[in-house]
Amino acid sequence: MRRIEVGLGDRSYPIVVGSSVLEKAADMALERVHPTSVALVTHPVLLEKYGQAVTDGFLRKGLQVHSIVVPAGERYKTLRTVEGLYRRLLECRVDRKGLVVVLGGGVLGDVCGFVAATYLRGIPFVQVPTTVLAQVDASVGGKTGVDLPEGKNLVGAFHQPAAVVIDTDTLASLPARELRSGLAEVVKYGIITDDQLFGDLERSIPDLLRRDARALSDVIVRSCEIKAAVVAADETEQGQRAILNFGHTVGHALEAVTGYRKYRHGEAISIGMVAACMIGEAAGVTPPDVTVSVRSMLARLRLPTSFPADVDIGETASATLQDKKRVGGRVTYILAERIGRVRMEPDVTLEVVRSALTRQRA
Ligand SMILES: NC(=O)c1ccc[n+]([C@@H]2O[C@H](COP(=O)([O-])OP(=O)(O)OC[C@H]3O[C@@H](n4cnc5c(N)ncnc54)[C@H](O)[C@@H]3O)[C@@H](O)[C@H]2O)c1
Ligand SMILES: [Zn+2]
Repeated sequence: MRRIEVGLGDRSYPIVVGSSVLEKAADMALERVHPTSVALVTHPVLLEKYGQAVTDGFLRKGLQVHSIVVPAGERYKTLRTVEGLYRRLLECRVDRKGLVVVLGGGVLGDVCGFVAATYLRGIPFVQVPTTVLAQVDASVGGKTGVDLPEGKNLVGAFHQPAAVVIDTDTLASLPARELRSGLAEVVKYGIITDDQLFGDLERSIPDLLRRDARALSDVIVRSCEIKAAVVAADETEQGQRAILNFGHTVGHALEAVTGYRKYRHGEAISIGMVAACMIGEAAGVTPPDVTVSVRSMLARLRLPTSFPADVDIGETASATLQDKKRVGGRVTYILAERIGRVRMEPDVTLEVVRSALTRQRA
């Protein structure tokens, strides 16, 4: 079992990564909080597969666990689900001394984190992420929230978990498409800060795709270390945390114009990272060989890299202006100077974006 600390003063917390660590979620939680009641929120399938192990840990500590199930899918990342959860928590008599334990992917982590941030003005929660995407990204950093019909993640709060417990065994049941989608975020970490991680990834792709435990835990640990360091330096995204957005401006726009149905998040980000490289080339920041390496890595992970033929480029370029991170009508792009180093570029025009996407067409 490996342990990473997220250093945020009195809101610091541990991330543990290992095999058979679900039972340890209780120990990790009780290092930091002393709840009198525990609510485990998960999906039906995950409750059946992994719920008992998590519950047993708390039972051994003399704590009853109320299991609450929520259907899976981004379409349930809504205020309606949040209200349902508040009411279930009340029914289970979870009070201010309660603890929410979230067993699931990024959708559930974001929803339940938001519930924990706001229920009775805030109670602690523990993340037990079960997708690669949630293990390397969504569960760490304290961003929580839900979608509105007008767009994704438009309502939310910063609320750091009390602990993050990552059991790599849970990835055994993850659909292959979800696994590859999550690995797109690992590629991102390599590009933004760590050329060694990028090189290690190149070598370990076959092991990762066949879910070798050691290979997975190595990249998960490294990704969490990077995310933890970036978050500790800039918790509420006043500056440096924006580098985590590499590939996300075009990626989010593509998700939006395709109605969040065509692509998994990591797939859209895969296309978005190649787009960021093309935009970087046009801006004279990204050397062409960087684009080649990024594209070939993503293709080996069987992630999409071309801009889809059936999606309108102008519409996608315009949709980048909806980016929450825009300041005064311009979107700041994160561009790669080389593998392992990026910089912020505040002055990218829509015309540059359009012509980059045209070059990226399949
Ligand atoms: N808070 C953040 O910082 C942050 C960062 C990145 C992404 N996100 C959010 O994360 C969400 C996407 O998360 P996701 O990709 O994990 O999707 P998800 O939570 O929808 O999970 C994907 C699917 O896999 C299933 N699943 C999860 N774990 C499984 C397992 N171990 N075995 C079998 N099936 C399993 C789920 O039930 C679901 O159907 C988006 O809403 C995004 O906005 C948040
Ligand atoms: Zn992402």
